[in-house]
Amino acid sequence: MLTFRTIKSLTESLRGYRAAGLRVGFVPTMGFLHAGHRALIVESVARCDITVVSIFVNPTQFGPNEDLDRYPRALEQDHALCRNAGVSLIFVPDAGEIYPPGFQTTIEPGPVAEPLCGAIRPGHFRGVATVVTKLFHIVQPEVAFFGQKDFQQCTVIRQLVRDLNLPVEIVTVPTVREPDGLALSSRNSYLSPVDRQRARCLSQGLLAAQAAYGQGERDSGRLIAIARAQMTEVDQLQYLELRDARTLEAAHGIVEQPAALCVAASVGATRLIDNVLLIPPPTALSDHELELVSHALDRQATASANEPRPS
Ligand code: PAF
Repeated sequence: MLTFRTIKSLTESLRGYRAAGLRVGFVPTMGFLHAGHRALIVESVARCDITVVSIFVNPTQFGPNEDLDRYPRALEQDHALCRNAGVSLIFVPDAGEIYPPGFQTTIEPGPVAEPLCGAIRPGHFRGVATVVTKLFHIVQPEVAFFGQKDFQQCTVIRQLVRDLNLPVEIVTVPTVREPDGLALSSRNSYLSPVDRQRARCLSQGLLAAQAAYGQGERDSGRLIAIARAQMTEVDQLQYLELRDARTLEAAHGIVEQPAALCVAASVGATRLIDNVLLIPPPTALSDHELELVSHALDRQATASANEPRPS
């Protein structure tokens, strides 16, 4: 595994791989890697000849009062995880490499970036879209992998790729959860033991709504109420919304299209997000929906295979 700190050295190396006709997979990250990132890397290693991971805590996607300065970092562990998971190249630029003096051009996403986290973190998705576009141009991957936990981010990036004709396939990998359901996130490391217990109610609520949907409940108000009833332990529920899974438009009334139930909440001083997909039985679905469905079914099969069995 090779590590690069400059764009020049990385692109020179990648040129050789591309000349050899190798398929490049890309996993952009902000480091402090966990099993959720590992799942993205594993997917890339399975589908591509070489996998590039970037580790860059992107300052432009943090607001002035957010956690940029205390965002957790663990470069040595990150290297070990990447090496064990079969990564070929790591790109670890510093901020000056990505945003040199005089930098002034940004990518402004459209309405998909406005609700949910976009409303609470103004400018966040501009920062994400800008750095992801830059990284795509630097790495020029055939495929890039993102976690479903950041569902709105995935939607913003799919839209960006469509709108700007970027020649990269976007793969969304299902959320990896702790055994008690908490979605893996680098920010979970901020949680005190008590807050860690309290945080469970988010996934419990989402999974309860997903189970009700599976049993035929289609009323958006009732699905949200089922989730909210469990989410009593958080300090502030920032949003709990049902959105169209493709457009992120609000899903009111009876849920007929694939939808995402998305939550953001603060638990102590930590802000957490999570979501589940509510997908109808696979009849006439698009390729993207079929991919989401098959990932979701794979996850369910793996989870039930790993469940402790009565002796
Ligand atoms: O999801 C993340 O870790 C970041 O938003 C990303 C995509 C690496 C851009 O900085």
